[in-house]
This record gives sequence, structure tokens and C-alpha cells, in this order.
Amino acid sequence: MKRLTIIITSILLLAGFAQAADRATVEGKCMTCHKEKSPGLYQQWYSSEHSLHNVTCYDCHKAEKGDKDAFMHEGALIATLVTPNDCSVCHTKESEEFQRSHHAKAGKILSSNDAYLAHVVAGEPAAIGGCETCHGGVMKLDKNSPNLLAKGTWPNSGIGRINPDGSLGSCNACHTRHEFSIAQARQPETCGKCHLGPDHPQKEIYEESKHGIMYFTNKEKMNLDSDHWVVGEDYYSAPTCATCHLSATPNQPVTHDAGERLSWTLRPPISKHQEDWEEKRDNMKEVCSACHGPVFVDGHYAQFDGVVNLYDQKFAKPSTEVMAIIKKNKSLENEANMSNDLEWTYWELWHHEGRRARHGAAMMGPDYTWWHGMYEVAKHFYFNFIPEVRATGDQEVIDYIDNMLANDPMHQWMDRPTAELKKDIQNGKMQAMFKDYYQPVMDEK
Ligand code: HEC
Ligand code: HEC
Ligand code: HEC
Ligand code: HEC
Ligand code: HEC
Ligand code: HEC
Ligand code: HEC
Ligand code: HEC
Repeated sequence: MKRLTIIITSILLLAGFAQAADRATVEGKCMTCHKEKSPGLYQQWYSSEHSLHNVTCYDCHKAEKGDKDAFMHEGALIATLVTPNDCSVCHTKESEEFQRSHHAKAGKILSSNDAYLAHVVAGEPAAIGGCETCHGGVMKLDKNSPNLLAKGTWPNSGIGRINPDGSLGSCNACHTRHEFSIAQARQPETCGKCHLGPDHPQKEIYEESKHGIMYFTNKEKMNLDSDHWVVGEDYYSAPTCATCHLSATPNQPVTHDAGERLSWTLRPPISKHQEDWEEKRDNMKEVCSACHGPVFVDGHYAQFDGVVNLYDQKFAKPSTEVMAIIKKNKSLENEANMSNDLEWTYWELWHHEGRRARHGAAMMGPDYTWWHGMYEVAKHFYFNFIPEVRATGDQEVIDYIDNMLANDPMHQWMDRPTAELKKDIQNGKMQAMFKDYYQPVMDEK
């Protein structure tokens, strides 16, 4: 059998020889000319693992007849875009994992309220330079452009880009070209292009956490270039974003689906557990176990769940219910979406402040859990949201608010003397009220 394979392979090799020689010339030409025309780009490629393993310009940029974005360039049919499909020829596992992840689907946001804000309240160019540069846009073609890509859509390296070949995403969202360095992808700056700012400040949270402190003060000990990079075996000083969400542990291989270790999704107004959330939580706990004991890790999750449940029950549920009633009764002054103060107040309550609090608690950033998080939630809920709800004059929601402030023990504080409340903290009544929140399981939904 083996011999037969060798014979067949030899025949194929001979037949392909002329073609291969052609190909070698084409490949050589790309490098020779671009070394002169775009020396920076060439040097990035030349210093990469790809160049070391003989993966050339043409391996990535070659196109087939019929590819929508293919064009003739110096005697070769190429495409400028190199999509996950193109990388998957050599990196199948990574591409398959990535295609099924939330990351790959991040370009499908056009029907969201965020998208309405960008396209209508701001305007189209803001959506392209903002949202789509992180999430990814739809790549469109323009027959008059030298590389066939429409200016309004490319350049773009959004993580969920919608490509002409039907694939989703762009690998160079994290693996910056043309070095495609693994050490670069493992560092927090890689994720920080997108995971920062008022509505998802993971980068800032990481920087202020003990983990960030240990990383930035010990970076040279992190062994970032190593092919094998298992937490606790190849490095030990600190976890990076990649360590917790993507990289290998003693029992888990590298994953390109950043959702595999998450038990919650903290993105919607009211948090939701992921499917199979207990298993996913165990995946994350295995990362922690390289450096922490189980009691410490369970304690962290209890504190984290505590903040999530507190935010959900005390603020997110009532404000979301109130908004639903107001929409049902059509009791806002202006008709258009986001044309009333109250809509903006509610939006920032969950989309900015409430997320910051939950993200801070998830990733050990105390300033985000409190000052940028729950402090703002509480202040704006009691002193902006409630007065603006009353101002609508909608009796159904006014009754809802009155009832909540009078009868819900979590909200009764406004009507009671401080001395009494302080006593309740001392005698443990307050703590008892919130005790249930620390259960790792949240049954109410
Ligand atoms: C004789 C010089 C030369 C050769 C050979 C050459 N290129 Fe280029 N290439 C250029 C120049 C110059 C540009 C800048 C745009 C232009 O003028 O077409 C360019 C542009 C490109 C672009 C970007 C197109 C765009 O506008 O987005 C890609 C991708 C590219 N080359 C890849 C290749 C590949 C792959 C090969 C080998 C098959 C190759 N080039 C061979 C000179 C060359
Ligand atoms: C490992 C795959 C890979 C190799 C090898 C590679 N490229 Fe690229 N190249 C990419 C990716 C990915 C992009 C970004 C395209 C996109 O947005 O889809 C790109 C973009 C480009 C662009 C347009 C971007 C710009 O900044 O103008 C040029 C030009 C280019 N490559 C030329 C080359 C040349 C020349 C070589 C060889 C020296 C080369 N590439 C080798 C993957 C590769
Ligand atoms: C023709 C095959 C081929 C194509 C196409 C290809 N690669 Fe690679 N890639 C390799 C080889 C070979 C290596 C080196 C051996 C290894 O690490 O697997 C490598 C290594 C890598 C590494 C690890 C680099 C390091 O520092 O260790 C990354 C990341 C990577 N490729 C990303 C990509 C991306 C993203 C694309 C598409 C834009 C791509 N590759 C296209 C063959 C390819
Ligand atoms: C700086 C990069 C960046 C910009 C700009 C940006 N986003 Fe996002 N967006 C993200 C990240 C990162 C997340 C995920 C946050 C998380 O998981 O905590 C996200 C989450 C979302 C979600 C929630 C998706 C879900 O699965 O629930 C929507 C919808 C969204 N963004 C739409 C938009 C729109 C529309 C715009 C422009 C008005 C925009 N974003 C601008 C990075 C960005
Ligand atoms: C969200 C960021 C991100 C995106 C997007 C991404 N990668 Fe990676 N990739 C990483 C990180 C981080 C590592 C390093 C994992 C580790 O610690 O070994 C990595 C490692 C790799 C490696 C080295 C082999 C390995 O599994 O360790 C290859 C090859 C690779 N990625 C290919 C791809 C391809 C192909 C795509 C697009 C389909 C892609 N990556 C998209 C972050 C990303
Ligand atoms: C180019 C922008 C971009 C980069 C770079 C990026 N992300 Fe994301 N990430 C997003 C967006 C957008 C979402 C939200 C996707 C959605 O829900 O539609 C997201 C979602 C996530 C999620 C939630 C996934 C889920 O299944 O719920 C995690 C975890 C995550 N990213 C981690 C990372 C890590 C770690 C890195 C760096 C190694 C990284 N991301 C790099 C844009 C980015
Ligand atoms: C010590 C481990 C660790 C590090 C380091 C870490 N994270 Fe996380 N991350 C977590 C945990 C734990 C959660 C919550 C998991 C859950 O839902 O069970 C989380 C949640 C997330 C989410 C989901 C948020 C949502 O809205 O649902 C994103 C996105 C994310 N992290 C991105 C990042 C980025 C980007 C970095 C680096 C700047 C980072 N993480 C660093 C452990 C970590
Ligand atoms: C590579 C090692 C490493 C990994 C992996 C790791 N940590 Fe840590 N963690 C540390 C170090 C070091 C400290 C600082 C200890 C100290 O304060 O003396 C720390 C501190 C903490 C703290 C205390 C924060 C504070 O401000 O006091 C918590 C909580 C924590 N880690 C939770 C986790 C969780 C949960 C995971 C997994 C999702 C995790 N860690 C993964 C190394 C790690």
C-alpha cells in the first residue's frame, strides 16, 4: 500500500513539476518586488514564523478563478483579503473553533439599539469608523477600485467581519500582520483595541487588578515566545486575558472560542447564564487552580455572583419592567426611539454602569465594581431614573415605583432614619437580606 502511494505521488509530482516551477517564480517575484516597494511589510513577514516555515505571500494571497475579490496583479491572480477560510487551509482547528464563537458573529449587530444610535442619532461614517472597526463590517466590492474592495468597507479588521467568501471574522483582529506573532496575541494589549471604554472596560479592569499588576511588573518572566505555553508549567507570574479565556491549561488545549469558559453573559440589561454554564465555569476554575486553592476560587465566584445578582434584582429588573410598561402605554413625550431623556438614562444604567459593575466583579477590579459601577447605578437609579419616570405622568409606573419604595426592603432605606439603618448593619439584618445573593446558583429568572 505504502509503495503504491509513493508511485502515485511521484507521478503527480512529475506532472506538477512544470506548474511548481512556475509557482516558484511567481512566489519569488512577490518577495523581491515588495522588499523594495513595501520594505516595512516585507520585514514583518521576513521575521515571522511563516517566513521561517516557507509560507510566502502567495500562499496566503493567491486566489482561485471565480473568487469575488480576485484580481490580476503582476501576472498572478491574487486577493488582498486573507480570510479565515484562507488561513484554514493550514490551521483548520483554529478556524473551526473561531467560526463557531461569538467573536465570529460580532458583525451581526445591525438590528441592535447600539446600531440605531450610530446610524441614526450620529451618522453612517461614525458606524464605519466606530462600531465596524471593532465588530467588523460587510466587505463590499467596487469594480473601479484597484483591489476591488470598496473604500467605505476596507480597511477593516473587525473581529466579526463578513467576508465575500461567506466566512466570518478576521484572524488578524488578534494576529496582527504580517508578523502573526503568538507572543503578541497572548498580551492584553491585543484584546484592548476593543475590550475597553465606558461599556466594557475589561482592559482597564485588568490593569488595576492584582493580575494586571503582577503581569506588568513581571512581563519579562512570562515566557511569551514559548511554543508550549501552559499556565503553571511554562509561566507562573500572572494570567493574561488569553490565559483565562483562550490559552492552554494542564487539561484544556488552546481554544479559539472565547465563550468556552464563561458561565454568564453580562451583556444584556439582565444577566443570563450561558448554556451548560456549570461546565463552562469549571473550565475557568481549572485555569485559576494553577495558582489558587479551591476555597479561594469558590469565594471569588460567590462574591462575583453576589454583585451580579444584586445588580439584576435590585436595579435591572425593576428598571427594565418599568420601561416595558412605559413603552406599552406609549407614555413618553417623543415618539422616536432614544428621543427622550429617560431612554438615555435607562440605557446608560444597564449598558454602561451596570456592565462596568459586573465586569469589575468578574475580573477583580474594585474601582470598576464600585466607583465606576454600582455607585453610578445607585445614584442614577434613585436620582435620575425614578424622577424621570414620575415625570411621564403614567399612573401605572408611578404606582409601581411607589409600591417598590414602600414595600421592597432593599429600597425602603429612603424612608428610614439613618440611625436605624446603621443598627441594622450592626445587628446583621442588612447582611441577612442580601445573603441569598451569594449562592452560586441563581434560580430566579
Ligand atoms: C513588480 C512589483 C510587484 C510584484 C512582482 C508584486 N507586487 Fe504586489 N504590489 C506592488 C505594488 C507597487 C503595489 C501597490 C499597489 C499597486 O500599485 O498596484 C502592490 C500591491 C499589492 C497588494 C495590495 C493591493 C491593494 O491595493 O490592496 C497585495 C495584496 C500584493 N501586492 C500582493 C502581491 C503578491 C501576493 C505578489 C506575488 C504574486 C505580488 N504582490 C507581486 C508591486 C508588486
Ligand atoms: C499568513 C498569511 C499572509 C502572508 C504569508 C502574507 N500576507 Fe499579506 N496579508 C495577510 C492578511 C491577513 C492581510 C489583511 C487582509 C485582510 O484584511 O483580510 C494582508 C494584507 C496585505 C496587504 C494589504 C494591506 C496593507 O496594509 O496595505 C498587502 C499589500 C500584503 N498583504 C502583501 C503581502 C506580501 C507582499 C507578502 C509577502 C512578503 C504577504 N502579504 C504575506 C496575510 C498574509
Ligand atoms: C500555507 C500554510 C499556511 C497558511 C495559509 C497560514 N499559515 Fe499560519 N502557520 C503556518 C506554519 C507552517 C506555521 C509554523 C508552524 C506552526 O506554528 O504551526 C504557522 C504559524 C502560525 C502562527 C503561530 C506563530 C508563532 O509565533 O508561533 C499563527 C498565529 C498563524 N500561523 C496564523 C495564521 C493566520 C492568521 C493565517 C491566515 C491569515 C495563517 N496563519 C495562514 C502555515 C500557514
Ligand atoms: C472599541 C470597540 C467597540 C466599538 C467602537 C463598539 N463596540 Fe460593540 N462591543 C464591543 C465589545 C468588546 C463587546 C462585547 C463586550 C462584552 O462582552 O462585555 C461589544 C458588544 C456589543 C453588543 C452586544 C452583543 C451581544 O451579543 O449581546 C452590541 C449589540 C454591540 N456591541 C453593538 C455595537 C454598535 C452598534 C456599535 C456602534 C454604535 C458598537 N457596538 C461599538 C466592542 C465595540
Ligand atoms: C481573539 C483573538 C484571536 C483571534 C481572533 C484569533 N486568534 Fe489565534 N490565537 C490567539 C491567541 C491568544 C493564541 C495563543 C494561544 C496560546 O497561548 O498558545 C493563538 C494561537 C494561534 C495559533 C498557534 C497555534 C495554537 O493553537 O496555539 C494559530 C495557528 C492561530 N492562533 C491561528 C488563528 C486563526 C487561523 C485565526 C482565525 C480563524 C485566529 N487564530 C484568530 C488569539 C486569537
Ligand atoms: C477587534 C475587536 C476585538 C478584539 C481584538 C478582541 N475582541 Fe473579544 N469581543 C469583541 C466583540 C465585538 C465581542 C462581542 C461579540 C458579540 O457578542 O457579538 C467580544 C466578545 C468577547 C468575549 C465573550 C465571548 C462570549 O462567547 O460571550 C470574550 C470572553 C472575549 N471577547 C475575549 C477576548 C480576548 C481574551 C481577546 C484578546 C485575546 C479579545 N476578546 C479580542 C471584540 C474583540
Ligand atoms: C484571572 C482570569 C481572567 C483574566 C486575566 C481576564 N478575565 Fe475576562 N473574565 C474572567 C472571568 C472569571 C469572567 C466571568 C466568567 C463567567 O461568566 O463565569 C470573565 C468575563 C469576561 C468577558 C465576558 C463579559 C460579558 O459581558 O459577559 C469578557 C469579554 C472578558 N472577560 C474579556 C477579558 C479581557 C479582554 C481581558 C484582559 C484585558 C480579561 N478578560 C482578563 C476571567 C479573566
Ligand atoms: C498565573 C497565576 C494566576 C492565575 C492563573 C490566576 N491568578 Fe488570581 N492571583 C494571582 C496572584 C499572584 C495574585 C495576587 C495575590 C496576592 O494578593 O498576594 C492573585 C490574586 C487574585 C485575587 C485577589 C484580588 C485582590 O485584589 O486581592 C482573586 C480574587 C483572584 N486572584 C482570583 C482568580 C481567579 C478567579 C482566577 C481564575 C479565573 C485566577 N485568580 C487566576 C495569580 C493567578
